[in-house]
Amino acid sequence: MLAEIKKRRAIREYYDGKIPDKDMEGIINSALMAPSPFNAQPWKFYVVKDKQKKFRIRNIYDDSTKKIQLYKKLCLTRVPIYEQDTSFLEIATLIIPCYEIKTSYARDSLAMAVQNLMLEATRRNIATVCMGRPTRFKKQRDQMRKIIQLENSHDIPYIIAIGYAPKPHEEYEIPERKPIKEIMVQI
Ligand SMILES: Cc1cc2nc3c(=O)[nH]c(=O)nc-3n(C[C@H](O)[C@H](O)[C@H](O)COP(=O)(O)O)c2cc1C
Repeated sequence: MLAEIKKRRAIREYYDGKIPDKDMEGIINSALMAPSPFNAQPWKFYVVKDKQKKFRIRNIYDDSTKKIQLYKKLCLTRVPIYEQDTSFLEIATLIIPCYEIKTSYARDSLAMAVQNLMLEATRRNIATVCMGRPTRFKKQRDQMRKIIQLENSHDIPYIIAIGYAPKPHEEYEIPERKPIKEIMVQI
C-alpha cells in the first residue's frame, strides 16, 4: 500500500477515459470500505461518462478559474492557481463524490473514501486527480448539482477525473513535500 501512496500523482492529462466496468467497480468498492462514524457511510459516487455533461463540467471549471483569477487581481485571494488546459476534463471519466450534509463528519469520511479510491486506481495503473475548483463557489456548485440532479440532502466538495495517462505514474514530477521535522510534533 505504501507503494501506491508514493506512486499516486495528481495527473491532468489523459488519452482515454473509458474505464472497464470491473475496474470502476473495484475502485468504487475500495471507497465504500472507508471508515465513517457509526458506519454511516454518508456518501454517494456519481460516475459521469456522458459527453455533454462532461462538457458542461469543464465550462463550470473554467468559470471558477476566471472567478479566482479576478479575485487574485483584486487581491481578494492569495490561493495559487494552475493555468491549465482543461480539455482533459472531457476525455477522462469524472467521478463526483457527494456527502450527506446532515451526517456528522460526512465530509471527512468522504475524503477518506476518496483517498481509497485514488489509491486503488493507482494500483490498477489508472490516473486520477482530485479537483476542488468546480465546486469552490456556490453558483458553480449549484450548477454541478443540477447536472447530476443531486438531492438537497447531499453536497459536492470536489470532483475526481479518472482515466489513462500518456505516461506511467512514476514519470510525473512529485510536488515537494514539507520536511517531516516541520509537520511532525512529538510531545
Ligand atoms: C481537495 C483537493 C482539491 C484540489 N483541487 C485541484 C484543482 O481544482 N485543480 C487541480 O488541477 N488540482 C487540484 N488538486 C490536486 C493538487 O493540486 C495536488 O494533489 C497537489 O498539488 C499535490 O500533488 P500530488 O497529488 O501529485 O502529490 C486538489 C487536491 C485536493 C486534495
